[in-house]
Amino acid sequence: MIKVNIITDRHFKVAAVDKRIYGSFIEQLGRAVYGGIYQKDSPLSDEMGFRKDTLGLINEIDVPIVRYPGGNFVSAYNWEDSVGPVNERPARVELAWQVVENNEFGLNEFMDWCKLAKTEPMMAVNLGTRGIDAARGVVEYCNFKGGTYYSDLRKKHGYEKPHDVKVWCLGNEMDGPWQVGHKSADEYGRLAWETGKAMKIVDPSIELVACGSSGLMMPTFGEWEAAVLGYCYDTVDYISMHTYYNNHADDSADFLANTLNMDDFIKSVIATCDYVKGKKHSKKQINISFDEWNVWYHSNEADKKIEKWTKAPHQLEDVYNLEDALLVGGMLITMLNHCDRVKMACLAQLVNVIAPIMTSDNGAWKQTIFYPYMHASRYGRGVVLKTITDSPKYDSKNYCDVPYLDTCVVWNEEDKTVTIFAVNKSFDEDMAVTCDLRQFDNLKVNEHIVLTHESLKAENTEINPDNVTPKESGATSIDGGVVNSVLPKQSWNVIRLSY
Ligand code: AHR
Repeated sequence: MIKVNIITDRHFKVAAVDKRIYGSFIEQLGRAVYGGIYQKDSPLSDEMGFRKDTLGLINEIDVPIVRYPGGNFVSAYNWEDSVGPVNERPARVELAWQVVENNEFGLNEFMDWCKLAKTEPMMAVNLGTRGIDAARGVVEYCNFKGGTYYSDLRKKHGYEKPHDVKVWCLGNEMDGPWQVGHKSADEYGRLAWETGKAMKIVDPSIELVACGSSGLMMPTFGEWEAAVLGYCYDTVDYISMHTYYNNHADDSADFLANTLNMDDFIKSVIATCDYVKGKKHSKKQINISFDEWNVWYHSNEADKKIEKWTKAPHQLEDVYNLEDALLVGGMLITMLNHCDRVKMACLAQLVNVIAPIMTSDNGAWKQTIFYPYMHASRYGRGVVLKTITDSPKYDSKNYCDVPYLDTCVVWNEEDKTVTIFAVNKSFDEDMAVTCDLRQFDNLKVNEHIVLTHESLKAENTEINPDNVTPKESGATSIDGGVVNSVLPKQSWNVIRLSY
């Protein structure tokens, strides 16, 4: 049995968690919208066409913010195509995913859906094929009270009140050669500055996210962030980060070690933001919007065979297994341990497309990754405390000194609860964990939730939706304020305590 001590202290706070760290993403891609959150004339949908079963699961997670409409999709998107009478909306050749988009579901449908999903919209503007004019137009359409062309058009479309969209992304992955309208850092930085400036004149209350690198592996990583922020530091509030991990090599130990890569990535982006801050003698701090993160690789081969120019094909439909859920849990822990700078994040994506929720015409079910995401969102609100562990470590193909334990502690002073999230990455040994929490009087165990399975490759599918589900564990006790727990090998754990 591996033995680990977690050392923490209620006075040593990382920061309060911004609940938007538990955001997600719906792109007009594959079956995320069509057949995912929206399916006209289905017995599973309401009168507006919104799938009630997926809404139920989204409400169970409690998703605070959802990014829309892309992703790569946004870089050739005309927002005007997606508003007004449905039968007058044009069908378009959709360049990013090479499908036909008929705009049956658009901006206003998304705003209606957000209300039912009890979430906030995070909108992206097109800085690929378009620019300042389209961006200021869509802010006016969404957020301006009335008496102007676009705000009155919104009213004509049946939306008297502004949508009041607070968070806007200035394009998507503009550093990526795959992006329609791909730009150099100088081209993008200038455009982001001028576009952001115009958008904030229309509505000074909005928050803006500039595109950072599409991943740590991008050849322009680092220089991109420094150059882009060099131009638009004063008008933006966040820089984006994106990362997807894969296990193509079928090396599970190395795959789970990717939390170290994510940790390095976050530290490097923070350093670059602060370098620009110093250079500009600025008092303003740029924070991180980690607005695309997940595991993505299972569907890569299937996607190569998709027929082009169809509507809503089965695209990016990864079926996740236990080890994916363990990495997703580890990624959540990594971001929480940086919650002083990672203020927003979006699990990419939410339904059908690399998603925790899958649907068919018959219903919806939870993938393995649903559980760590739901647990973190529901129980990970409060203040993250600094933790030190003496976890034993391993070396893998691409990483050295990988701790077997990923953990973070969240204290919710209002609810008088302390929650320990933990991943035991060992495939052979259970882990005995101790954590001295004597600073919290009369601490008791509410529950210890465990997600595990004998097979790392175990999945949930439509015909076997409960193959990997969380169970109650009796393996946590408290002795004189010290928590003693056993984390099974290859497991995600949520130890919920109250005082
Ligand atoms: O989430 C899928 C895609 O991944 C997004 O459209 C894009 O931004 C990223 O490359």
